This record gives sequence, structure tokens and C-alpha cells, in this order.
Amino acid sequence: MTSGKTLFICRECGYEAYKWMGRCPSCRGWQTFQEERVLKKAPRGAFSLEGGGELQLLGEIVPLEKERFLTGIGEFDRVLGGGAVAGSTILVGGDPGIGKSTLLLQVALRLADSGNKVIYVTGEESLQQVKMRAARLCPGRKGPLLVLAETEYKAIEKQILQKMPHLVILDSIQTIMKSELGTVPGSVVQVREVTASLVQMAKGCQFTFFIVGHVTKEGTIAGPRLLEHMVDCVLYLEGERYQNFRILRGIKNRFGSTNEIGIFTMESRGLTEVDNPSALFLEQRPRDTAGSVVVPFMEGTRPLLVEIQALVTPSYYGGNPRRVFTGLDYNRVALIIAVLEKRLGLQLYNGDIFANAVGGVKVTEPAADLGVALSISSSFRDRPVLPNTLAIGEIGLTGEVRPVSRLEERLREGIKMGFRRCLVPNGNLSSSFEDNIGDLGGNIEISGVSTVAEALDLVLG
Ligand SMILES: Nc1ncnc2c1ncn2[C@@H]1O[C@H](COP(=O)(O)OP(=O)(O)O)[C@@H](O)[C@H]1O
Ligand SMILES: [Mg+2]
Ligand SMILES: [Zn+2]
Repeated sequence: MTSGKTLFICRECGYEAYKWMGRCPSCRGWQTFQEERVLKKAPRGAFSLEGGGELQLLGEIVPLEKERFLTGIGEFDRVLGGGAVAGSTILVGGDPGIGKSTLLLQVALRLADSGNKVIYVTGEESLQQVKMRAARLCPGRKGPLLVLAETEYKAIEKQILQKMPHLVILDSIQTIMKSELGTVPGSVVQVREVTASLVQMAKGCQFTFFIVGHVTKEGTIAGPRLLEHMVDCVLYLEGERYQNFRILRGIKNRFGSTNEIGIFTMESRGLTEVDNPSALFLEQRPRDTAGSVVVPFMEGTRPLLVEIQALVTPSYYGGNPRRVFTGLDYNRVALIIAVLEKRLGLQLYNGDIFANAVGGVKVTEPAADLGVALSISSSFRDRPVLPNTLAIGEIGLTGEVRPVSRLEERLREGIKMGFRRCLVPNGNLSSSFEDNIGDLGGNIEISGVSTVAEALDLVLG
């Protein structure tokens, strides 16, 4: 009986070594190696890419209009770039308990209802648990959904090849194993081999394949990082555990843009699309409080309003003052703080500064700079900005406010949400812009600014 060999495998990139290393020579990650006993490599299936294996002239390849499934969940389809492509593999990652199974069971039920053959493979929950959840999510649904409670790869493969479904959902990849590999489910080797085989099968049989992957902090389970390279599309479901909204974010997409996000709330009926995300993000906004400014930012093609909060307090503890930024780009906020120090003389160097994009969104767009600068200055001076005021503009190192893209859409979103005043970069105020926003006239007062100093004078007085 062969005892197999022991290998050290990088969780992040799958690099294999015979001895443990502190740093991976391939992806340069620290402490990413874990020890696994490997019996042998599993043979992969004989599926090949469509038309693969033969040389072809590029000019003679007929472009295939990829068939797409619309799931009917608008926010989900948007993130996928207009539905899921047949034959593609989509990884849905996220923390345990965030709602991945819920979302994908909703997708499965919807697509089964609209006449697709769907197999939902559960390696975590029993058939009864899936049944109960389905009854809660979609009471009274009709379409037949095939459910398989199984963790052995071969058994799953057999069912798929027998049924030839349009859609397969695997929940989760960390529970499925090829027993001939001899390692535990969730190990790097298992996750990699099982995924590789299933991705090939999805291409060969042209079914759309959703994989659920848990993200964990410890090293025992192979994180979906490794999987990201193997699949066509990577989505992350994110959110604060104790708040009920969830953001579905595209990280990688071979068939569409990755800028889109979908916004949901977690209800007892499952993940529910949010019609007006700006309203949700601004729901609990304090009025007339120092340190709070609302900015319109672009998430993909959609303008959203979000509140930026800042708190500047004296740093009593000596040493380095604290700089804690959530949902904002650290380097951009650091730059803005430096500009406020140097160009406007705000003495921020001995203050702790906390800044936050409220609601769990990530606002990394430079167009939010002016809002960040105003919220920090407002907290520092302990004076609220004028009510119902938005701020838009990128800040440069000399304290200048630079033009931004898509100003018109941002303004329209602001007006929709009841804002009456907006600071915009002077550079955006061309005559063609004035023409474009002609119909907005009277709804919002637009003040052009060229520098941060001007902006502060206007709204902080
Ligand atoms: N009966 C229920 N009513 C409302 N929400 C529920 C109910 N049961 C579970 N949930 C929500 O679903 C979440 C679990 O979602 P799930 O899809 O299982 O997450 P994941 O698959 O990402 O681990 C729970 O954290 C809870 O918020
Ligand atoms: Mg789950
Ligand atoms: Zn590595």
C-alpha cells in the first residue's frame, strides 16, 4: 500500500513544494503553505473546449452568440453582465452565514420555474433543510428542481452526465471530494482538482455552473483565491453580519464588466432587491452633525449616494496618531489629510482621524475626495456642513479640485434624493454641460469650486 507523499501547497496559488516555506516563491504570499498528503493526481475528464484541439484560422471562426440565462433577479443579472453564460463557471464567495446558499437557491428555484433543468448539489445541508428553506423563500413554486445531497465527486459527475442539466449549483466546493486523492475535503488539492474537473465538465456539457465557496481566515480550508483563476466569473457576497443589507460584487468576469454591484436586503423571504439603494444608505443619516457629508459616487454604471463620516479627536496617547478608514482608499485619505494640513493649515497631525463610508460600500473613486476633505474639516472645526449639500470632486496635491466624469448622472441621483445644493469642480462647468443639465434648472443649486479652500468657505463658512 502506497503511503503517498507529503507536499506543502500554497493556499493562494496552489504552488507545490517538498518542504515548508515561509513565503511562496510564486505568489509571494506569506505563511500560505499548508501540509497535505497526496496519494496521486486524479485523472481529469476528457472534455475539451468547444472546437478545441484543431488549428483554425481566426478569420474562419464563427463567433458564437453565447446563450445567457436571465435569472430574473435583476441585481444578480446586472452583476453577471446580463445573465449567466451557458458553459461558464461562476464562483460565489463570501463569509459563512452571509447568504450564499439563500441567494443560489433562489436562483435555482427561479430558473427551474422558467423551464430549465436545474441540479442543486448540497454538501452541507440535508435534503430536508433545503426543502424547508425553499418553502420559506418561494412558497407555492411549481417548476421541478433536482436536489442532490452528495459530497463524492464521482457520484455528482454521474448524475450530471445522466441528466444533462442547464444549470448546476454546487454548495459548497469545500465539502466535495474525490476520495481517490486521499486528502480531506476542503484541502487545496481537493478544491483544485474537483473544481478543475467540474469546470471542464461545464464547458463540455454546456451547463452554467455556480460554485459556492466559503472564505475563512484560518488556514485549514483552501480559500477561493485559488479558485479565482480557474473560473470565468467571481462574485462576492458581502455585508455586515448584523445589518440586513448585502452587496453582491463582481470581482472577475470573462463575459462582462466587473464594476457592477447588486444590492439586496436579507429578509425572511430571502435576498430581496433594493429599488432605491441611495435611500437605504442614507436612511439613518444624522442631520446637522459635524463630520457628515453625502457624496454621489459611481458603482459601475449606477450613481449612488453615500454618507462619508469623519471624526477627528485629539490624540492623547503619544506616538503615532490613529488613522482608521473604513470603505475608503487608505492612500487617498492620507493624501487628502496631507493637503488639508499643508494647503489649508488644519493641524491634523496630532489628532486621531477616523473616516468611514457608511453602509458597507467601498468608495474608492477619486470623485469622493472633496466629500472626504469636507467631512474631516467639518469634524475638525466641529461645525456641520450646510444641510442638503452634496460634494463632488477629485483633489490634487496642490489643493485644486479636478473635474470628474458623469457629473450629470450624479446630480440627477442627488436631486432624486432631495438634495438642493452641490459643490462641483469648476472644470466641469463648460457651456455644453450647462446645456445638458438645462432641465435640472431650479432643482439644485450648483456651485463650482476650483480649490478645497473655496469649498470649505462655501459650506463651512
Ligand atoms: N427563517 C429565517 N428568516 C430570516 N432569515 C433567515 C432565516 N433563516 C436564516 N436566515 C438568514 O440566512 C442567513 C444564512 O444564510 P445562508 O444562505 O445559509 O448563508 P451561507 O450559505 O452564505 O452560509 C442567516 O445568517 C440569516 O440571516
Ligand atoms: Mg450555505
Ligand atoms: Zn503562492
